[in-house]
Amino acid sequence: MVYKDLAGKVAVITGGSKGIGNAIAKRLGEEKMKVVINYNSDKAGADHAVQEIVDAGGQGVAIQADVSSEEGVQKLLDAAVENFGDLDLWINNAGMENQHPTHELSLNDWERVINVNMTGTFLGSKAALNYFLDHNKKGNIINMSSVHEQIPWPTFAHYTASKGGIKLFTQTIAMEYAEKGIRVNSIGPGAINTPINAEKFADPEQYKETADMIPMKRIGDPAEVAAAAAWLASDESSYVTGITLFVDGGMTLYPAFQGGKG
Ligand code: BGC
Repeated sequence: MVYKDLAGKVAVITGGSKGIGNAIAKRLGEEKMKVVINYNSDKAGADHAVQEIVDAGGQGVAIQADVSSEEGVQKLLDAAVENFGDLDLWINNAGMENQHPTHELSLNDWERVINVNMTGTFLGSKAALNYFLDHNKKGNIINMSSVHEQIPWPTFAHYTASKGGIKLFTQTIAMEYAEKGIRVNSIGPGAINTPINAEKFADPEQYKETADMIPMKRIGDPAEVAAAAAWLASDESSYVTGITLFVDGGMTLYPAFQGGKG
């Protein structure tokens, strides 16, 4: 346990069955939190995360829900209140990506990515904000953005649009609810070793191609993103709101200029 103020607090994390969400769930367990882990289809992954949380001294429950629907998000809030009696932290982490040249991108693929990544973030934040306001709580919201809220990424236009949307959404609601003591921040991971990227980074050539775009010359670990989430969740970051905390080995620093080139 690093942040004592987190112990016993209640969190919802969307998309907690794998990747970054899974690492955050585990870390919140180590902080002795009570965690609702949402999953879409990977029940086994979510159950495993619950076990890891319990083993670490926290409490957890796995709940299936589609975060792009109001009913799905309500189900998660209800699970927090029914199982753990409260809500202190909501992490909008669920996300997806796929690659298509934009002139071939189907409306269906566009909508699916926007719905899960951006609308899911809106609906989760809305549910959490209403709970915090109704209960006069200085709650905390963390949104999973990406370096691609800032860096354009050809053939991923729907994904970058969703993350760019999350950036301004985060800043806007951070300002809107700051006077209530509610903090809202984003995390912007770079290239992280998660299932989304597993195939790409298993190939040494592709690993090197990506690592060369990172000043630190390596792919990040999900636990390094989870550490940022724990800090933003805790009172140690009490004067921080509306930021995107990039966890990217320097990827957002115009790495083409590294070594004084240019
Ligand atoms: C994407 C990864 C990608 C990374 C860096 C992330 O937002 O999910 O697939 O490797 O950005 O480009």
